Amino acid sequence: MAHADAAGFVPPPYPYERLDALALVAEAAPGGIVDCSIGTPCDPVPEVARAAAEAALGASMGYPPSAGTPAYREAAAAWIERRFGIEVAPAQVAACVGTKELVGSLPHLLRLRDPSRDTVLYPAVAYPTYEMGATLAGCRAVPVPLDEEWQPRLDAIDEADARRALLLWVNAPGNPTSSVADAARFAAVAAWARRRGVVVASDECYAEFAPQPATILSAGLDGVLAVHSVSKRSNLAGMRAGFYAGDGDLVSYLLETRKHAGLMVPTPVQAAAAAALGDDVHVADQRARYDERRTLVRAGLAEHGLVHDGGPMSFYLWARAAEGDGGWAVAERLARTGLLVSPGDLYGPDGERHVRVALVQPLDRLRLALDRLAVGAPT
Ligand SMILES: Cc1ncc(COP(=O)(O)O)c(C=O)c1O
Repeated sequence: MAHADAAGFVPPPYPYERLDALALVAEAAPGGIVDCSIGTPCDPVPEVARAAAEAALGASMGYPPSAGTPAYREAAAAWIERRFGIEVAPAQVAACVGTKELVGSLPHLLRLRDPSRDTVLYPAVAYPTYEMGATLAGCRAVPVPLDEEWQPRLDAIDEADARRALLLWVNAPGNPTSSVADAARFAAVAAWARRRGVVVASDECYAEFAPQPATILSAGLDGVLAVHSVSKRSNLAGMRAGFYAGDGDLVSYLLETRKHAGLMVPTPVQAAAAAALGDDVHVADQRARYDERRTLVRAGLAEHGLVHDGGPMSFYLWARAAEGDGGWAVAERLARTGLLVSPGDLYGPDGERHVRVALVQPLDRLRLALDRLAVGAPT
């Protein structure tokens, strides 16, 4: 929970810092920790990205355009067309310094644009920065309940909250549940929001790891933003590059405002990200890695009563203990065998019966973790 009261904002502990004690336990296991808690990629940087960053370092180094270089915006627009079959003009695409930065700052900028609204709606089990971005903007953060498939229940949103809403966040493929959306679901979200004058921001940073490509942009660009990242797609989380695309008026408001705030993606990073967005071969390799890990770990955990009951996206498993333990009890048990996972309540109270397993370790480490689980935790 974040705190904003008369005494001023006090930052809460960072979610993953709550895992420090469990990490110490896992580190003590023979063979060391297998860290599947944070979704930080472990796989190689694509060669095209490395070469482009190096070439850019050799060129002159003036300030980069805050909205993104023409090459970056064109590469992002071309990728949207290849991946989703949707044409978006490069002028309707702009850069962000990784999508966490955009998620954290969007409510603030939308509130400046429309001070008559003060509420951010976000999925009740979700990436914690949706709530934090609202808090940092001085907005009300209102969770939207999820159905049994971990999809937001638009019918459960109070109309009084909807009237005050600046923004509705959706996230598909979803962190932490791996749920996915199709065109019909996106169309329903866009229609709900348009009827109420609410902006939809659709965080699609795991889009490459869904069985079928899908984007909010298929519902038309009016009032919507799709948010994308090269962090997961191209193993470039350390580079910090993402982009947002959609409604022309919204994109230009945001890029003009962000320009004043000095938000810029460094030139070599833009070059690397543009090159990565132009290449799909490394993404196919990455998709195969996550698929293989998912199959292995899903089956291995199921043997120990930990059942994945999320969706088909391949980056995370969302496992529930069959015997009904809470997420912290499961995470503690796994940590004693050296496997570190995230208790589901890091993503909201409704996640408390689950753990999230990020498949960001190589197969040999995952096999080690499963072997140790089979032997059992020391008592
Ligand atoms: C749902 C979601 N959105 C956004 C991000 C931020 O990614 P980045 O800032 O690296 O683009 C993450 C990172 O884990 C995420 O899970």
